[in-house]
Amino acid sequence: MRRAVFAVLFACVMLAVPARADTYPSRAITVIVPFAAGGPSDAMMRILAEHMRRTLGQPILIENVTGAGGSIGVGRAVRARPDGYTVSFGHLGTHVANGAVYRLGYDLEADLEPVVLLPSNPMIIVSRNNIPAKSLPEFLAWLKAQPNPASAGTAGNGSGSHIAGLYFQQVTGIKLQYVPYRGTGPAMNDLVAGQIDLIVDQTSNAITQVRAGTIRAYAVTDSKRLESAPEIPTADEAGLPGFHMTLWSGLWLPKGTARAIVETLNAAAVAALEEPDVQNQMKNLGLQMPAADQRTPQALGTVQHAEIEKWWPMIRSAGVVPE
Ligand code: MLT
Repeated sequence: MRRAVFAVLFACVMLAVPARADTYPSRAITVIVPFAAGGPSDAMMRILAEHMRRTLGQPILIENVTGAGGSIGVGRAVRARPDGYTVSFGHLGTHVANGAVYRLGYDLEADLEPVVLLPSNPMIIVSRNNIPAKSLPEFLAWLKAQPNPASAGTAGNGSGSHIAGLYFQQVTGIKLQYVPYRGTGPAMNDLVAGQIDLIVDQTSNAITQVRAGTIRAYAVTDSKRLESAPEIPTADEAGLPGFHMTLWSGLWLPKGTARAIVETLNAAAVAALEEPDVQNQMKNLGLQMPAADQRTPQALGTVQHAEIEKWWPMIRSAGVVPE
């Protein structure tokens, strides 16, 4: 009994002790990626982790904590000790849209410390190969001619691919049947296998399969073509003018994490972003770097707040229910 009381007292003392910023990091750092391995979130974090590990001199461990559009993984990070050793990876879906879909039990702005804005990319409309459409107008006509709504893979309600699907529905008037996965990595496997009809996906997740000819691309949701894939038209060119969506990613820490720890992690991430081979890998995936003046913790907080203002009304009007 006495041992149990001591253990509880010790735990309370440890929780109360602020993390030592001057020795940070003194052990491995865990980054919670709220989607399955093999998807675009996981891929981006693994590219960055390799360089951040060298800068910080400690292992960067990636933990894929999935479910509920990414909100389970984010919640795990929110409730972690604010000591810099548990980091939340997320994006427009998890750190903006989820707040309009789920009763999260945490506040996406009040309970997280922005650390750094990471690369962004437009979405891309892709389908399984054996659909008889060679252009976006033909694909839209095919979708409209189906007796039942086409199946659209997502990473769960509130995920980036789900929000992109809702936006696609809104601009085309075509209803989709959403098929939730634990990430768009598994969803892409099913698209290649012809098990689902389409994904409005992050370009970085689809571009390799498009280049391999295993799926078909119709347009990117941007006003300019991708430098790394100039053969793919923009939505403006392909018949959906103004269908623009950019999915940005970022890193956060639990609220209350020491400023010096936030800045140490920010510096390591920015150093990774400035590495030429990281820039080449990201560019090849269709990802664009944040501008130099957009790499401070404050810049991520500003972007996140503006995107909440922008997207919540549309998501709420779509009547999205938690899965
Ligand atoms: C999303 O659709 O939210 C992400 O692309 C999912 C993922 O990174 O697997």
